[in-house]
Amino acid sequence: MTVPIRPGPSADQIEMDRAGSVGGLAERGPAECDPVEMVRVALGDRAYDIVIGRGLVTSLGLRAAALKPGAKAAIVTDDVVAPLHLAAAEAALAAAGIATIRVVVAAGEGAKSFAGFERVCEALIGARIERGDFVVALGGGVVGDLAGFAAAVVRRGLDFIQVPTTLLAQVDSSVGGKTAINSRQGKNLVGAFHQPILVVADTGLLDTLPIREFRAGYAEVVKYGLLGDAGFFAWLDANLDEVFSGGPAREKAIAVSCRMKAEIVARDERENGERALLNLGHTFGHALEAAAGFSGRLLHGEAVALGTALAFEFSARQGLLAPGEAARVTRHLARAGLPISLADFPGGAPGADRLMELMAQDKKVKRGRLTFILLRDIGQAYIAPDVDAAQVRAFLAEKLESK
Ligand SMILES: NC(=O)c1ccc[n+]([C@@H]2O[C@H](COP(=O)([O-])OP(=O)(O)OC[C@H]3O[C@@H](n4cnc5c(N)ncnc54)[C@H](O)[C@@H]3O)[C@@H](O)[C@H]2O)c1
Ligand SMILES: [Zn+2]
Repeated sequence: MTVPIRPGPSADQIEMDRAGSVGGLAERGPAECDPVEMVRVALGDRAYDIVIGRGLVTSLGLRAAALKPGAKAAIVTDDVVAPLHLAAAEAALAAAGIATIRVVVAAGEGAKSFAGFERVCEALIGARIERGDFVVALGGGVVGDLAGFAAAVVRRGLDFIQVPTTLLAQVDSSVGGKTAINSRQGKNLVGAFHQPILVVADTGLLDTLPIREFRAGYAEVVKYGLLGDAGFFAWLDANLDEVFSGGPAREKAIAVSCRMKAEIVARDERENGERALLNLGHTFGHALEAAAGFSGRLLHGEAVALGTALAFEFSARQGLLAPGEAARVTRHLARAGLPISLADFPGGAPGADRLMELMAQDKKVKRGRLTFILLRDIGQAYIAPDVDAAQVRAFLAEKLESK
C-alpha cells in the first residue's frame, strides 16, 4: 500500500528571515493547505520518519499500515488525552483495517512507575499483542516513555509509533529513542534505547493543551536555537506570537527542532558526546525540579527555562559571552511566559548549598568539578566538563541574594 505523503521542505529549503516568511510553506498553493513537514532520523536499518502537520492523526492508519501490513495495534494513552484524541486515532487505524486495543493509564508522572509499567506490559500480553504487532504511544512524554519502554521489552521488543500530544513530546521526548520509567531513587533510571518506527506529530492536537504546558514545551524549542542555531533563535524571537497561536509558524518551529534533534541523535545515539548538548539548561534545571519535588509547582520545561537563563548568565559571568546576549535570551524567555529568575521559583527558592547538593546527587559533580553546557554565544553551546563547583556555588549565592 502506498501512502500519499507530500515531503515538506528540507532544512536548507526553509528560509528563515526576521519578517517571518517561511519559504517552503508560504509558496504552496491552497490545494495543499495541510503541509506536511518530514524529518528523517538517519539511523541505518532503524531509520524512521517524523511527520509534522496539522490534522495528521487522520493519516495514522495509512502510514502505519504501510509499515506494518496486517498487524494489530495497542494504543497506550492517558486518561486526560483519551477523551480528547483517542477516538480520532482509533478511527484512523480502523479506516486502514487495523484492529486496536486501548490501554489507558492515569495522567501524570506517577504512571512511569514499576507498577504502571507492569500494568501496561500485562495489558499488552493479555491482549495478545504479538511480535509482528505494534504499540502506539498517544500522549505526552510520560506516555511515550512508558509505552516505549514496554514496547522495548514485551516479547523482547515490539515496534512502536509515537503520536506525541504535548509540545515537549513533539520536539523532544518522541524523537531519539530514549524510553524509561522512574525508580524510587530517581527519574528515568530504568529504561532502554528503543527507536520508534514512525513519529506522527499532529500540531492540531496541541490546541487542547493547557497554555502552561505549551509554554513549558516551548523552553525545549528555544533550546535548539540557543544551543546550535542563532538564526533559528532570531526567527523564534520575531515569530513568537505566531508559534503560540498555531499555524505554519508552529509547524516550522517543531520541524526545525526535530531536525536538529534528529541530526544530533543520528551522530551520537547513545550520548557518548555531542548529544549531551541537548542538556543545555538541564544541570541547573534538574536541581530546581528536584527542589520542587518534581511536582506541578515547577514543570520540567519551566525548570529548563530558568536553568537556561542561569547557564547564560553564568557563561557571561565567566567572560565567555557578552552580557547583552544573556539579557536577550532572558528577555525572550520572559516574553514566552517562562520563569527566568530564582525569584520566580514558586514558594521560595532553595539555598545555594541545597542546589549544589542536588546537582551532586544528579552525578553531575565529580571531585569538585561539574559538567556543564556553557555558551560562547547564542547558538554556540559547548560541553564544559571541568567547571569549578565553588564558582557555581558563588554564582548561585549571589543570584539568590540579588533576587
Ligand atoms: N525520552 C526522552 O528523550 C525524554 C525527553 C524529555 C522528557 N522526557 C519525559 O517526558 C515526560 C514529560 O512529558 P510531558 O511534558 O509531555 O508531560 P505529560 O506526558 O505528563 O503531559 C503533561 C500533561 O498534559 C496532558 N496532555 C497531554 N497531551 C494533551 C493534549 N493534547 N491536550 C490536553 N492535555 C494533554 C497529560 O495528560 C498531562 O496531564 C517526563 O517524564 C520526562 O522524563 C523524556
Ligand atoms: Zn528537557
